[in-house]
Amino acid sequence: MKYNLNPSDIEGLDKTALPSHVAVIMDGNGRWAQKKFMNRVKGHEKGADTVRMVVRTCREIGISFLTLYAFSTENWLRPKAEVAALMLLLKKFLVSEKQEMLVNNIRFNVIGETERLPDDVRDAIQHTMDATRKNDGMNLNLALSYGGRSEIVKAAKEIAAEVKDGRLSVDAITPETVIKHLYTAEIPDPDLLIRTSGEMRISNFLIWQIAYSEIFITETLWPDFTRNELIQILKEYQGRNRRFGRV
Ligand code: IPE
Ligand code: IPE
Ligand code: MG
Repeated sequence: MKYNLNPSDIEGLDKTALPSHVAVIMDGNGRWAQKKFMNRVKGHEKGADTVRMVVRTCREIGISFLTLYAFSTENWLRPKAEVAALMLLLKKFLVSEKQEMLVNNIRFNVIGETERLPDDVRDAIQHTMDATRKNDGMNLNLALSYGGRSEIVKAAKEIAAEVKDGRLSVDAITPETVIKHLYTAEIPDPDLLIRTSGEMRISNFLIWQIAYSEIFITETLWPDFTRNELIQILKEYQGRNRRFGRV
C-alpha cells in the first residue's frame, strides 16, 4: 500500500524544521502483555504493529532517517523461548514489510552484531537490504543485537589495527576517525531520541551518537504508542532550543 498523508494530521508541525534522524528505544512490550495477563510474546506481537505505524508516519511526514532499537546485545540474556519468539517475529516482519518498503521508497539497513543472529534471520535481512538498496525516500535502520559499547570497541580495534599497520598516526585520530568506524558512519547523529514506557535510561543505545540528541521519554508502553503521540513529540521537539554548548 502506498502511504498517503492526510495534511490535517500534522497541523501545527513545521515541515521545514523536522529532525533528520529520529531514534527510538521501543520499550514496554512485556509490561503491556503482563498487565493483560498475557505472555510477553503477545506484547512483542502487538509491538510489531506499532513499528509499522511509526515507520509509516515518519515516511509520510518526511523524516530522512529512522533508527529503531529492536534487540540489544544484553537482550541475548533473556529466556531462550523469548529470544526465539523475537527472532521469529523479526523474520516475519522482514518478509511481510519488504513490499511496503519497496512501494514507499524506504531503504532498509541493520546495525549491530548481526553475526550473532540465526542464519535464517540474517538471510532475510540481507534479502530486504539488497531489495531496497536503491531506495532514497527514508532510511530505516533496525538496531539488532546492537550495543553501543561493543560498537565503540569495534571502532577502537579497527583504528588500532590501522595504527599498527602504519596506515594511521596516533596524532591523526579525531572524533571523525571514530565516527568512520561506527555502524552509523554514513548516518547523521539522531536529532531526537524517544523512549517509551518511562525508564530514564539509555540501555546501551547509540551512546556515542546521542551526545547532543533531544531526549523524550513517555510513560506510554510501546504497544500503546500512537501516531498522535509521535506527532505531538515532533511538535514539542520543534519548540526546544538546541544550543550545542553555545549561549
Ligand atoms: C521492548 O520491550 C522490546 C525488547 C527489548 C526486545 P520489553 O520486552 O523490554 O518490555 P518490558 O520492558 O519488559 O515491558
Ligand atoms: C532496551 O530495552 C532495548 C530495546 C528496546 C531493544 P530493555 O528493556 O532491554 O532495557 P532495560 O533492560 O530496561 O534497560
Ligand atoms: Mg524493557
